[in-house]
Amino acid sequence: MIAWSGVTHDGRYAVYNDGVSGCREHDEHDKAMGSEVHLTAGRAAGDGDPDGREPAGCVSLVTSSPAETEQVGCVLGRLIRPGDLVLLQGPLGAGKTCLTRGIARGLGFTGRVTSPSFTLANIYEPTARGYPLYHLDLWRIKSAAEALGIGLEEYLNGPGPTVIEWPEVAEAVLPGDFLRIRFESVDDCRRLEICAFGERPRALLDAFREALAADSVPGGPSASRD
Ligand SMILES: Nc1ncnc2c1ncn2[C@@H]1O[C@H](COP(=O)(O)OP(=O)(O)O)[C@@H](O)[C@H]1O
Ligand SMILES: [Mg+2]
Repeated sequence: MIAWSGVTHDGRYAVYNDGVSGCREHDEHDKAMGSEVHLTAGRAAGDGDPDGREPAGCVSLVTSSPAETEQVGCVLGRLIRPGDLVLLQGPLGAGKTCLTRGIARGLGFTGRVTSPSFTLANIYEPTARGYPLYHLDLWRIKSAAEALGIGLEEYLNGPGPTVIEWPEVAEAVLPGDFLRIRFESVDDCRRLEICAFGERPRALLDAFREALAADSVPGGPSASRD
């Protein structure tokens, strides 16, 4: 069961299944992850992008296993569509590839999903939706120009959604609308802070929040499916 909470764009703060995930029961973990700092009334504090733009909304959740992180990705994967951009930020081993595997599963892709840290880009094609998922990892890329050199724009303008691990180096050449997911780890716990920048990402985040609530309700869809 995934514990999660969120700050909606109209300032409401909601906590769902608080204390259900194993991680939430460990106060020390929560303090270490700074949940009180991140979730303040009305907005996620300090979350502006480098230009100072505030997110249109944020959802914060905690997973306690790789399977849970993949499940979160799967919920998102069922909702994303061509043109959507998801940026994954966090250190090595944070769970970025694990989440992307879930996104691919949510899109109906059943093949192998591995880190493209050497290949730079994986294309999962075809997904059950009839369009590909682009999975980029810019860990080895040194500059925005180099990112363009590997065809970044072609992926972004291609017929599928795009997920990018280590996107920071390409910030200057990325579109302004995206869903940004930041990972923090303590042991097997991962706090994911998911923030929407732009109108479509905000709609995607709203749909994600609703789907997650439906998925997390005891006896709800996931309970009967899993
Ligand atoms: N709650 C969790 N969510 C995701 N991964 C977890 C979790 N707990 C432990 N792990 C482990 O952390 C690692 C995450 O690896 P990966 O997804 O490749 O990270 P990244 O792509 O961020 O470098 C895996 O070895 C996974 O088993
Ligand atoms: Mg990775």
